[in-house]
Amino acid sequence: MRPYVPRRSPLRALCGALLVLACAASGCSGDADSEEGAAPARSGAAGAGDPLFPKLGNGGYDVTHYGLTLDYAPDDNHLKGTVQITARATEPLSSFNLDLDGLTVREATVDGRAATFTRGGTELTVTPKSPLSKGRIFKASIRYDGTPKTIHDPDGSIEGWIETDDGAVGLGQPTGSMAWFPGNHHPSDKAAYDVDVTVPIDYTAVSNGELESREVTGERTTYRWHTGEPMASYLATLAVGQFEVTDTVTDGGLPQYNAVDYDEVDASRKVSEQVSEIIDWQSRRFGPYPFSSTGAIVDRNPDVGYALETQTKPYFGAAPDELLLVHELAHQWFGNSVTPRSWQDMWLNEGFATYAEWLWEADHDGRSADEIFQDFWDGTDDQSEGIWAFPPGSPPSAEVVSDSPVYGRGAMTLHKVREAVGDDTFFSIVRTWLKRHRHGNADTKAFIALCEKESGKDLSEIFDVWLYGKGKPDRP
Ligand code: TRP
Ligand code: ZN
Repeated sequence: MRPYVPRRSPLRALCGALLVLACAASGCSGDADSEEGAAPARSGAAGAGDPLFPKLGNGGYDVTHYGLTLDYAPDDNHLKGTVQITARATEPLSSFNLDLDGLTVREATVDGRAATFTRGGTELTVTPKSPLSKGRIFKASIRYDGTPKTIHDPDGSIEGWIETDDGAVGLGQPTGSMAWFPGNHHPSDKAAYDVDVTVPIDYTAVSNGELESREVTGERTTYRWHTGEPMASYLATLAVGQFEVTDTVTDGGLPQYNAVDYDEVDASRKVSEQVSEIIDWQSRRFGPYPFSSTGAIVDRNPDVGYALETQTKPYFGAAPDELLLVHELAHQWFGNSVTPRSWQDMWLNEGFATYAEWLWEADHDGRSADEIFQDFWDGTDDQSEGIWAFPPGSPPSAEVVSDSPVYGRGAMTLHKVREAVGDDTFFSIVRTWLKRHRHGNADTKAFIALCEKESGKDLSEIFDVWLYGKGKPDRP
């Protein structure tokens, strides 16, 4: 778990300053390392070690904060930006990589000094003037511009930067955020964000977290969005469009910001009340809501065939129905607060978000969870198509991490665990899981260990059959 980094913390600024002074006094950087006989500075790895996405993310440093300053022109779909990345070197670095797909890099600096950079594929390699010693906190700044790419995934879906009829949106699951800003784009490196976006005055720019200010200068508006809790970069979003904004609070007192495309306003009239009701229900079921605000972005974006659980404000390409809201809001706990350490563990996101739908239906005069399980087994539920294609705990390739086994059979696994341990223990496991890994990363191994510890039972057969077994099990 990475510590929560308050924005513009005076303490942090002081620590940074002291560090710089200490370095200046001892002439640190690469030299200090060799003096002490520590490992010599080397290039940071081009990937974070994800078996399904080997080039995603990078090694050698840990980002604590992204400061994005963006300027977007909807007329010609042109983005101009600077990202300032605050990070800590986790090994002595002669250079480090960022992920970036497309766009033109104009300038790179590290701690204010010009750095050289090269590009190859989706890797941007930055070489600072002098090496970074292990533990060093540094600020890398990258200035870039261009028309961001829409990324076409092998499963046929699109992500990255997607134009709409009145603007555009950045969507990042699993790799799309590298289309609109350079960063360490692997879910294991979570960070705080400040996103400042300038758009023409007749547009609204919506991002994660809370709106700190909205300032009009001439014909343009600058929106400043702040995300204080750690966020994986695939959950970052920026939606530019013509939106009706509702800035309100939930019944439970949580700030709620909804942005609804004018074309979707009629169909979205219930959204604000539904978000409020669902967040309250989920907080009772799962424990405290993990973030400082909630809301939704309802766009008109017919090309995107999915919704995304973008942090604090899930994104919908059209007015959502209630169960889709339940699903995306459940991700705020499962996936956003507790984030998989690698994409193989996607079922921890989608299995739980799907199971949240089952629980909602059971609590709202629908089928019981047992009945839904049975309908998935029989294949009569329309979300059950294809769920036996591969074991949800080990998706065989990057193309299938968002396929139905990860959702439906992931939820079935959770239902089997619940059956084995009983309701009280099951919900106590869920709450402990969320509490223990809040704002961090976790993996399936830790989940299984927790289930077995809390229940005092050997659950290996359930996980072997439901999570890791090939094909449809012999009996439900
Ligand atoms: N993770 C999203 C959800 O379940 C859905 C999603 C995002 C998706 N990207 C995708 C589904 C690509 C299929 C293909 O809420
Ligand atoms: Zn989901």
